Amino acid sequence: MEKVKLAVIFYSMTGTNYQLAKWAAEAGREAGAEVRILKVHELASESVIEGSPAWKATVEATKDIKEAGSEDLDWADAIIFSAPTRFGTMPSQMKQFIDMQGGLWAEGKLTNKVVSAMASAQNPHGGQEGTVKEIYTVMMHWGAIIVPPGYTHDSIFEAGGNPYGTSVTQGEDGKMVENVKDAVYHQVKRTVQIAGWIKEGMNK
Ligand SMILES: Cc1cc2nc3c(=O)[nH]c(=O)nc-3n(C[C@H](O)[C@H](O)[C@H](O)COP(=O)(O)O)c2cc1C
Repeated sequence: MEKVKLAVIFYSMTGTNYQLAKWAAEAGREAGAEVRILKVHELASESVIEGSPAWKATVEATKDIKEAGSEDLDWADAIIFSAPTRFGTMPSQMKQFIDMQGGLWAEGKLTNKVVSAMASAQNPHGGQEGTVKEIYTVMMHWGAIIVPPGYTHDSIFEAGGNPYGTSVTQGEDGKMVENVKDAVYHQVKRTVQIAGWIKEGMNK
């Protein structure tokens, strides 16, 4: 069977979602998928970024990563989104990327994409679940097939037990509080596996 094509699309200001996305890309490759790791376009001005060493460091660390475009969504069988919480919702950078997909949607090219989402926040209950569910609301409008982790693996409990999608708390030192790597791996492998079943079924 042809490989599942996986797009891992993230926004990250201080590196957390970049790390989640890197783990997701690794997991996708381990699951046998062809993987593209992609960032969404930054909307903040250079002068604002310049004033935050952590933000500047993330921009520098991700400078060689391609920006996601409609062609990547069209290419992908499966998509993993990763985004930090902004007052309980997704960041405008991610929303802007989504809002640019009207053309692809109108052509029916987002139907049956197999999708799953991850999120982070500063607080353990700072809006991670809401952010994942907000992404899923968009996915329902796309006619995409949402693959939530549920409680399908022990790693989900260790990661804090979010059945909507892996989520993490960013501690005061900027590091992740919960151990979520295994949960990310499980979520991505499960998404790739289900995308494979669907791809195979569609090709019959
Ligand atoms: C404008 C703004 C709003 C935020 N709102 C929340 C919030 O409502 N709850 C929360 O716990 N963290 C909030 N945060 C913290 C971020 O979610 C956190 O820094 C982020 O998840 C880290 O991810 P990143 O390192 O990938 O940028 C906010 C951060 C910013 C800049």
